[in-house]
Amino acid sequence: MKINIAIDGYSSCGKSSTSKKLAKKLHYKYIDTGAMYRAVTYYFLQHKIDWKNENQLTDALNHIHINFQLNEWKENRTVLNGEDVEEAIRTMEVSKKVSEVSTVSAVRKMLVEQQQKIAIDKGVVMDGRDIGTVVLPNAELKIFMTAGIEVRTKRRWLELQANGIDLTYEEVKNNLEHRDLIDSTRLDSPLKQASDALLLDTSEMRLEEQIEWIYSKALSKIN
Ligand code: DC
Repeated sequence: MKINIAIDGYSSCGKSSTSKKLAKKLHYKYIDTGAMYRAVTYYFLQHKIDWKNENQLTDALNHIHINFQLNEWKENRTVLNGEDVEEAIRTMEVSKKVSEVSTVSAVRKMLVEQQQKIAIDKGVVMDGRDIGTVVLPNAELKIFMTAGIEVRTKRRWLELQANGIDLTYEEVKNNLEHRDLIDSTRLDSPLKQASDALLLDTSEMRLEEQIEWIYSKALSKIN
């Protein structure tokens, strides 16, 4: 029997890397919902959309099509209107605006509907902020990941450096704190631990340990 796995938590506590590898290990589909909010934000910035203007917002949302594709190295790529935007959505310009865009209910409604459709046949590992609470409230396994701010900043800073994005440690830390605050205090679907989610603090854990921890919980649900 296949199950759905919901993984929520703060920015940069290892959700995406863990979820991606976990999905591979289980032969499940991996869905990065943060990438979907980032793709919408990228479109708004590219087309200078004023998302507080209802007409502009509705029109823009009608023109946005997001899907995921595997490239020749079997890596997951985010595709916006036929264009691979996997790198373009990870810039600081997008990171600075994505939490604000994520507070817009019309944006959430469109993306949540799409996410629920993808998960209908089960066998999905989905990561985000509202997966266990709103998108997949019936997911068989829910994990809420957390880690200290210094650990998260260091991880994200190293990741950005590796991708050639040169920012100071403080800039990265400020962005994480800013996003956490908006994400957990917004009115529509704020980031919070679902009552039936298992808490996983990754501050002292290596990636492989995080994956094993969730994998063993998943196996006990599958069998
Ligand atoms: O996972 P990430 O850092 O790439 O996500 C970027 C932003 O998208 C995050 O700061 C809040 C928003 N988001 C959300 O509101 N709901 C989700 N399910 C996933 C992401």
